Amino acid sequence: MLDDKIEAEKPGVSRRSLIAKGLALGGAAALGGATTASAAGNPANQPPNVPEWSKVLGDGVAVRPYGHPSKYESNVIRRDVEWLTASRESSVSFTPLHELDGIITPNGLCFERHHGGIAEVDPNDYRLIIHGLVDKPLIFTLDDLKRFPRVNRAYFAECAANSGMEWRGAQLNGCQFTHGMIHNVMYTGVPLKILLEEAGLKPNAKWLLLEGADAAAMTRSLPLAKALDDCLVAYRMNGEMLRPENGYPARVVVPGWEANMWVKWLRRIEVGDEPWQHREETSKYTDLLENGKARRFTYVMDAKSVITSPSPQAPLKHGKGFTVISGIAWSGRGKIARVDVTLDGGRNWRSARLDGPVWDKSMTRFYVEFDWDGSELFLQSRAIDETGYVQPTKDELRKVRGVNSIYHNNGIQTWYVAPSGEVENVEIS
Ligand code: CO
Repeated sequence: MLDDKIEAEKPGVSRRSLIAKGLALGGAAALGGATTASAAGNPANQPPNVPEWSKVLGDGVAVRPYGHPSKYESNVIRRDVEWLTASRESSVSFTPLHELDGIITPNGLCFERHHGGIAEVDPNDYRLIIHGLVDKPLIFTLDDLKRFPRVNRAYFAECAANSGMEWRGAQLNGCQFTHGMIHNVMYTGVPLKILLEEAGLKPNAKWLLLEGADAAAMTRSLPLAKALDDCLVAYRMNGEMLRPENGYPARVVVPGWEANMWVKWLRRIEVGDEPWQHREETSKYTDLLENGKARRFTYVMDAKSVITSPSPQAPLKHGKGFTVISGIAWSGRGKIARVDVTLDGGRNWRSARLDGPVWDKSMTRFYVEFDWDGSELFLQSRAIDETGYVQPTKDELRKVRGVNSIYHNNGIQTWYVAPSGEVENVEIS
């Protein structure tokens, strides 16, 4: 029973009060609140009748050798914004955050950002070369990589331009589009440090050039200190091999740093003593300020959070009564220490309940359970990480950086919930 679960997790709420509130909604609410008009469905399939799917034999095991979600979940997909990118090859898709819970992003729903389309790499022909300022240049096959000691780590990957369209004001109506350039995956891979030590670093080694095998030959410079700290060459995501769109068969994982440095289809690492000139998009490292100056080498993703439900694509359909706010928080500087949530646009804040693992540079899930009286809400969340950093408001960010930036917008998001339960992306000040 849902009520028992809620009661067990929320010792402060008595069983009697939950049931009383449930009954106020209608008879079935105490069984889980399935009373909304949209969930009315077909009475012939509902108790006390025997549903149609109980009257026929279902598929056997061989019909779905690789499983897919239920056909009723066909709406849970990556989406793109057509006007945002000129070509399909150099484009971005967004994770449907409003449809997900917990902290792990399913592989088929991880946002994509390609610069030359998806490289379909044959694992038999896959090679990774490490050369430059090393004692002995090395070439690894995929099987070679799998023979090194491996680790499992969950990390978020966030595009530096995530929420970029929101710098000048509320624009896109859904957290899939405002915050969906992020995913959180359990990687299996080799610490980059082990591979570099195998090749032997020269004393003057300071930077790495990472190059992908895609048509854009995507290249990024990575400071050696970061590579030796916690970077991985990963070949698995959530247990299975990387998906082609996520860099199959091997990619770099740069924990807490902007995702454009996580070079996919990794084919070459050149060790050098300074950063390389990038063929493309040196601006990726540069955030333009109001005074014409720029912030450079802004690699770390600052602490950020967003309420994923309710949100514009996930309205409060059930009407007033007991409900759950669900959201995610993350920080490129470590663990999430706390998340605050306000229902009234910042007048009153309460601490959210963190649930599930709270890991370093990984998404953290938070919840606030409350009894909605049906009046309008201005929902916000504010992440605080273990360094004490507090997620700023968008106005606080603009005061420091102006409005010319696209990158590193980690400002507090506001959702307006109307009495009807519809939700809109708004800004308040
Ligand atoms: Co940056």
